[in-house]
Amino acid sequence: MVQFSLPSNAVVKKGKAQNQIGNAQHVKKISIYRYNPVQAENPRLDTYDVDLDNCGPMVLDALIKIKDEIDPSLTFRRSCREGICGSCAMNIDGTNTLACTKPIADIKGQLKIYPLPHTAVIKDLVPDLTHFYAQYASIKPWLETQTQPPPDREILQSKTDRALLNGLYECILCACCSTSCPSYWWNGDRFLGPAILLQAYRWIADSRDEITGDRLDNLEDPFRLYRCHRILNCTNTCPKGLNPSKAIVEIKKLLVRRR
Ligand code: SF4
Ligand code: SF4
Ligand code: FES
Repeated sequence: MVQFSLPSNAVVKKGKAQNQIGNAQHVKKISIYRYNPVQAENPRLDTYDVDLDNCGPMVLDALIKIKDEIDPSLTFRRSCREGICGSCAMNIDGTNTLACTKPIADIKGQLKIYPLPHTAVIKDLVPDLTHFYAQYASIKPWLETQTQPPPDREILQSKTDRALLNGLYECILCACCSTSCPSYWWNGDRFLGPAILLQAYRWIADSRDEITGDRLDNLEDPFRLYRCHRILNCTNTCPKGLNPSKAIVEIKKLLVRRR
């Protein structure tokens, strides 16, 4: 049997508890993964008591309240607060999702928050997505044409062709799906993962794009595409309700058809 051993500094230790909130009636205990690679310390779980009567309804509201009122050293990403930018993706109560659209009320008992799994951590809840974005760049996420576009108008598309992009263009590149995929955990250096493959299919499916053959050539690889084993974690976790697994199947079907 294969045995794994973790370095001693990978163990998450119990951290500080900050619970001086007087006589609040509705208190939520929130445990948050804390890690600062600059300090030679193990990661730890700090616990904060939050007065829900003086806090917005979403997990992101609680994080902002903790940072503003209890612990300014807490680090996380966020921008739009509307589920559009993808910045606040993290693991909340065991599921990858967006902190700004996840209601605190959905979580019974103690709320636990970790960074997206199997990512290098820059600090606390901030994952290093450098490799993820390099993989995104590798699929040429832009329209490529070879014929000269009309000089006096946009390149037009029929309503039917435009409809083929539904369920694809809405992806906000939050990485919730890729970091929930076991194949991406083990082979993320070479497997593109569900988010990038859904994006790849978004350009393949676009009737205006003229390098479909090159795009398929780039994906026809035992690792880049075929490490998907249809475990479906990606589709189950997508906070935008998209189906990366289906996009991957569509790419595989196109590869079979062109043989
Ligand atoms: S497919 Fe969904 S989970 Fe994956 S990156 Fe796009 S929006 Fe996020
Ligand atoms: S369906 Fe494919 S991409 Fe999605 S989680 Fe499973 S192995 Fe990963
Ligand atoms: S802050 Fe933009 S998606 Fe959550």
